[in-house]
Amino acid sequence: MKYFFLSYLFVAAIVVAAFGTRGSKSELPPIEILPDMDYQQKVKYQAKSDFFADGLGARRPVAGTVPMGFEVPAKPASSPEYQPPAFGFSHGTGYYNTGKFGDYYGDGLPKEIELSKSLLERGERQYNIYCAVCHAASGNGKGVTSKYGILTAFNFHQPGSLDPANAAAYRADGAMFDVISNGKGLMGPYGGSISVQDRWAIVAYIRAMQVAVKENNVSVQ
Ligand code: HEC
Repeated sequence: MKYFFLSYLFVAAIVVAAFGTRGSKSELPPIEILPDMDYQQKVKYQAKSDFFADGLGARRPVAGTVPMGFEVPAKPASSPEYQPPAFGFSHGTGYYNTGKFGDYYGDGLPKEIELSKSLLERGERQYNIYCAVCHAASGNGKGVTSKYGILTAFNFHQPGSLDPANAAAYRADGAMFDVISNGKGLMGPYGGSISVQDRWAIVAYIRAMQVAVKENNVSVQ
């Protein structure tokens, strides 16, 4: 017992010596066990920088680019020449950008997206790149990551998955769009890596997959 207390005191003294002084003020540089990113080459906002010829730290956006979270200037949706941005990552408002009408998820593709064979092919490609690792190429939720602990990936073919009245299994198109954009539980958000148009293409592909599995009575378990 005596040795237990002695070694306990010894360990406690080491821990206090190593970490206890964190936060206390000193003229000396702090002891850093894990320096992480405390020191790095960076420009603080509103600060000067010798790196650029004009001496400004803050840069203007590169001509012809749109920062994330900003809308591409476009003709208003009511205009006949209106074109949705082909590869927008906009966090704009409206059903096309959010999957919602007000506070409610909408169902069906937005008017900006035209259902076509090429849209479904694009959706299939993007689904296989981004979603199949967890949800499986078949959509049954048993992708390769299920072997490594992601056991809850949604099964798109569970009974009732095409019945809007079945809250446990059915996800409206807008709800799927929202989950792709913002993530849910163990599923991360893909709004920064999959364009708005591709998110809708994936939604359309998942629907096609659900209908195909149901109508052809295929087993995907
Ligand atoms: C890292 C693994 C992973 C990836 C990749 C992934 N998901 Fe998920 N997904 C999950 C998990 C886990 C859940 C269950 C989340 C929960 O309910 O907590 C889920 C749930 C869902 C749901 C149902 C959400 C709800 O409302 O209950 C949809 C729809 C969905 N994913 C679509 C997608 C699509 C489309 C992609 C590809 C863009 C994708 N997921 C990529 C793991 C993943």
